[in-house]
Amino acid sequence: MRYLVTGGAGFIGSSTVDELVRRGHDVVVLDDLSSGKIENLDKVGAQIEVVQHSITDLDRLRGACRGVDFVIHLAARTSVPQSMADPRDTNRVNVDGTLNVLVAARDAKVKRVVFAGSTAVYGDTLTLPTNESVPPAPISPYGASKLAGEIYGQVFGRSYGLEFVSLRYFNVFGPRQDPGSPYSGVLSRFHAALLGGAQPIVFGDGEQSRDFVYVGNVAEANLLACEAKEAAGLAINVGTGNRYTLNQTLALLEKITGRPAKAKYAPPREGDIRDSQADITRARDVLGYSPRVGFEEGLRHTWEWFCSSQGATSRA
Ligand code: UD1
Repeated sequence: MRYLVTGGAGFIGSSTVDELVRRGHDVVVLDDLSSGKIENLDKVGAQIEVVQHSITDLDRLRGACRGVDFVIHLAARTSVPQSMADPRDTNRVNVDGTLNVLVAARDAKVKRVVFAGSTAVYGDTLTLPTNESVPPAPISPYGASKLAGEIYGQVFGRSYGLEFVSLRYFNVFGPRQDPGSPYSGVLSRFHAALLGGAQPIVFGDGEQSRDFVYVGNVAEANLLACEAKEAAGLAINVGTGNRYTLNQTLALLEKITGRPAKAKYAPPREGDIRDSQADITRARDVLGYSPRVGFEEGLRHTWEWFCSSQGATSRA
């Protein structure tokens, strides 16, 4: 089978590409390297095609979709605070770009598009763990953009018969998550701080919680979502079913790394949700997904990667 992975040089994308190559599939990566890195594909570089363009360029997308069976669409702006600061930029990439992906996939007669949705569509829901029937109520432009992408995908299913699955990722962490920007995922920031002997910064009181899911589990969910018959048209949570506060996470990291992890507290971020925890019943039933790598094991792998990856450390 031939797969197009948009955002394939990114953190989740490159893990997904590794898994596809391991299983012997043909892979095309389309990535503008705005946040992805070509080094993330070093291991598989010779076995894949890489097209360095943005999803905002419909013509390039059409070229990349030629002969493709499945599109795994991960290219996106991923940051909530970035979307608060510049909502139009997030919309341009996450909404207009996704619409381009859908048009190109439809015209190339792709079998199915799997989309990187987000728990951010639920906003500050009080229903925890959250299942997919909880009505979306995003509280950031980022959440709105992910909901818009999901709705467009479902409409392409109903209007044009393009199969579409939205995976609502919870907080993904693991090797290759880049800590180098203030918008980076919290666990990459924590790891980089501990490695550099700096104090991790916590926005708010640290009692906000997240369902942290290891990137290998997410890569597996991406592949399952391409094939699972009953998944077409659905939004499906991809998390673990557990949640940890940032304070609990720092205590765990202190234990795992042997480094002091005393936080410096800063004012909370606008647009932040308070808690998130996935109900993963649908993912288990429809995809046959289970989060095989648990939180502590995932943190250990991530710490090992940060320790062995000087490049990431010096950018932090
Ligand atoms: C994250 C993802 C988003 C995804 C969503 C799904 C990133 C950058 N964002 O959003 O793409 O759709 O999960 O749930 O991966 N924080 C600190 N210190 C820091 C950085 C962050 O305390 O140095 C706090 C934030 O204020 C927030 C929490 O940690 O309360 C998580 O932040 P972040 O990792 O940016 O993720 P989300 O906003 O949950």
